[in-house]
Amino acid sequence: MTTEAPDTGKQSRLWTLPVLRAFAPPVIETPEEACDSTEVVPWQLPGAQLRTNRGRANRGFYAPRLPGAPTTTRQAEVLNSAVIGAPTGTSGIVIGRDVLSRTMIAHDPVTAYNAVPRIVSSPNVVVMGDVGGGKSSLTKTTYVIRPLVLAKRRAVVFDKKDQNGEGEYSGIARRFGAEPIRFSTDGTGTRLNLLDPTITRADGVAGQVRLLNVIARLARDGKELSEWEQEALRAALVRTVADYEDKSRTPVLGDVLPNLSRVADLTDYGSMSAKQLDDLEHAGLSVRFALNGLLHDYAGLLDGETSPDVDLRGKLTSFDISQLPEDGPAVPAVMAIGHMWLLGRLRSDRGWATNCIYEEGWHIAAGPSAALARSNQKLSRGLALSNVFVFHKGSDIPPNSPGLAMVQEAQTVHVYRQSRPEDALWCQRTFGFAPETAPQIEKLGDGFHFFKYGSHPETLMQHVRSPWEKQITDTDEAFLAAGRRDG
Ligand SMILES: Nc1ncnc2c1ncn2[C@@H]1O[C@H](COP(=O)(O)OP(=O)(O)OP(=O)(O)O)[C@@H](O)[C@H]1O
Ligand SMILES: [Mg+2]
Repeated sequence: MTTEAPDTGKQSRLWTLPVLRAFAPPVIETPEEACDSTEVVPWQLPGAQLRTNRGRANRGFYAPRLPGAPTTTRQAEVLNSAVIGAPTGTSGIVIGRDVLSRTMIAHDPVTAYNAVPRIVSSPNVVVMGDVGGGKSSLTKTTYVIRPLVLAKRRAVVFDKKDQNGEGEYSGIARRFGAEPIRFSTDGTGTRLNLLDPTITRADGVAGQVRLLNVIARLARDGKELSEWEQEALRAALVRTVADYEDKSRTPVLGDVLPNLSRVADLTDYGSMSAKQLDDLEHAGLSVRFALNGLLHDYAGLLDGETSPDVDLRGKLTSFDISQLPEDGPAVPAVMAIGHMWLLGRLRSDRGWATNCIYEEGWHIAAGPSAALARSNQKLSRGLALSNVFVFHKGSDIPPNSPGLAMVQEAQTVHVYRQSRPEDALWCQRTFGFAPETAPQIEKLGDGFHFFKYGSHPETLMQHVRSPWEKQITDTDEAFLAAGRRDG
């Protein structure tokens, strides 16, 4: 029956008749407030509408009995179980709980990289967050203790944080049956030889030249080497390696130094003018002075053959660099040399997958070593090496640098609390999180973080530890107590 004209608000007079009145449809009224044409009047929209007239409601012309709550699309996602399903599958290693769906999160970069089809295109990992958020607890459990129970898995740690006079991973290393490899600058620690044949095995003499370049830059506060200086360093290194080819002793950094002063003698440069030879000699000397200073300042660390205790130690190898000075080139130098040494060592030990953890990873990602580590990414993947970089904040890493590219290439990301809004924003932008995640990053509690892998959206996750893991990740004393109880 078409008896009314809803758009005008007028009603047919038929509905005013005594019996029909009871069945009259409601009149659409236009309230005065709706006169503003920009205002949306809800009762003129299609769909179930709220009615306020009690009399009409009693006659059945009524909207839903319960008024709806205002909501955003994001909030309404919780009503859709497909959206809040478990964020990961069950393969890999259990690492925690999705806060929204309360389901288990399992992930392991090595397993995800080996999956067919690939779940992640890079096995590298970034763990980021303020001091004391729980980064090392996650790293120790998820990237060291738990994977080590799997076959053919091992871990190598550059352990930077001091805990009672040694690195914080020392207890765990001993638990896995190996003493940490201790570095110090007082002459009592371990030595690393820049010209170690294991390093040459990583990427030939070219790799050794790149490493020496990085060390020379570190010795000069990060200042880049000029083309002349690079050439002088390359020539001196090649000459040193050739000099010692037939000798019993392995060449060391100290053997390169005299050759840096003699580059101009090389027959390769016979066609150069006297001025050019002068410039080359000058370039060689400036590199020599920088390396001289380094050897002098860090005697016992780089000035000799690699100590016999430097080797992979079963399942867990810890390079304890906690006693090296916070500032200066020692820490990044040991990380860079250790990185190259590891690549060379893995070449002769195939079949294992290795997690290499860089605590305070900005030492490698924010300085000259970043270009070296990045250029080795392909080699790392070929050797089943998953690099785990642990940082406090991203703003330490220069924009458009190889270090930033390396961080962005990591396909597994854990972002812990970043209380400074600019640091939280950096993470949101760098890792492609949703914009509303940034303010949440500022307020995360201990053990909570945003986890992202591959191209999946980030998930708010609680890292869950067993009681034993809690003890060993909280304090060293507790670790020893746990060991006594177990044993
Ligand atoms: N999963 C967790 N649940 C609850 N609390 C945790 C969790 N992980 C760590 N914590 C707490 O946070 C403290 C610091 O943890 P951790 O040393 O791992 O932090 P961090 O981020 O590595 O700190 P730093 O930046 O100083 O290295 C621990 O002693 C513990 O009290
Ligand atoms: Mg830590």
